[in-house]
Amino acid sequence: MSDYDPLDAATVADPYPVYERLRKNTPVFWSERFGSWIVTRYSDCHRVLSEVDVFASDWRRAGHEAPPTAALSMQELDPPDHTPVRRLFTTALRDQDLDAIAAFAVRDTAAVFEQLADAPSFDFTAEVARPVALQAVCRLLGVEPPPVAAFAELSDALVRGMDAGLLPEVLEPAMAARGRINALMAEWFTAHRRPGLLTQVLHGAGAAGVTEDAVWNNVRVLFLAGFSTTVGAAANAVLALLEHPGALERLRDPALLDSGVEELLRYDGPVQGTTRACVETTTIDGVTVERGRLVLALFGAANRDPERFAAPDELLLDRHPNRHLSLGWGPHACSGALLARIIIRALVQELLAAPAPPRLAAPPVRVPRATLRYPDRLPVTFQNAEPER
Ligand code: HEM
Repeated sequence: MSDYDPLDAATVADPYPVYERLRKNTPVFWSERFGSWIVTRYSDCHRVLSEVDVFASDWRRAGHEAPPTAALSMQELDPPDHTPVRRLFTTALRDQDLDAIAAFAVRDTAAVFEQLADAPSFDFTAEVARPVALQAVCRLLGVEPPPVAAFAELSDALVRGMDAGLLPEVLEPAMAARGRINALMAEWFTAHRRPGLLTQVLHGAGAAGVTEDAVWNNVRVLFLAGFSTTVGAAANAVLALLEHPGALERLRDPALLDSGVEELLRYDGPVQGTTRACVETTTIDGVTVERGRLVLALFGAANRDPERFAAPDELLLDRHPNRHLSLGWGPHACSGALLARIIIRALVQELLAAPAPPRLAAPPVRVPRATLRYPDRLPVTFQNAEPER
């Protein structure tokens, strides 16, 4: 039994000491607060994500009630239902001109930094991460981006809604935001569309045996999950770079860029975990988990497991191998991982090309959240920058 509370102020500020205690003392524990088993070690999280026979994303397989298949997204289905939907979307994603999207992400970031060059300070999350991520995800889809500030409010309400099990008051604003986002997306389906992922999946859906409703549900997941997680990953990455003197400068070495991006994702990934339902009674680390029970794989904790990563609390930009779980693992691993990496890389490159070395202007501000962790306000400045050590 553990009283793990992700919304406790000290845990919101820094969950890693808590994760360390959990891994050491209660690696698999029942949480009344979550109504779920929670696993914190890398090997156990990896198993929960990989063994789809035992740990279901489609909770119906474990005896839970859920809407019919067409109303579910790929995140809530398992093979065989999951396979055609996922294939349709991942093929469409790979078919897009990701190099062009990367070039635009670099250009967008450079333009924002130029505008902000003389500002006393700016909020990296609101003024850089959100517009750049929104532009990139909309370019991928081939749709007109909505106004960023208004959209970010809706997305934030939905992200907070992921914690409704812990904070019931966030549910209603999340439902309202969902309605408004559905209205926004309804326009995409009728408006003249540019070539892009949306056009391709609509075109290919029939042949793939995927209904238009299912396309709709999956585009919504891809758009919302893609935006909020990328904003979070970008803000976390920049915070980590600014908190480690010399780290950004080291990424000038092109040989370090890819491994550096991976390490930034591992070191402080935005998604703290994901939940599966147990299809058959099993044991995890000697603990019996009964059929039907939920299991939360807390990969924020797994990514700092010393059994898997040497010096796990250090940011080692050349870490290799680096099989972190920040983008998930197994059949449900992030299908937008390519784009996610492209955007983080573009941000790092443009931070290096910025008019002056960036530094933190004030401590970051965090809204308490369990599922997605990143600074909601990240004050950065290009002024009076001290030389990199
Ligand atoms: C750095 C940014 C990102 C992070 C940290 C991230 C993280 C994740 C994680 C952890 C999962 C697995 C969830 C689970 O197993 O339950 C996932 C799945 C997914 N992600 Fe991402 N993601 C990112 C960016 C994106 C982008 C840019 C897109 C799309 C444009 C996207 C689309 C998806 C989709 C569709 C799934 C569901 C895959 C499936 O269930 O088969 N993600 N993501």
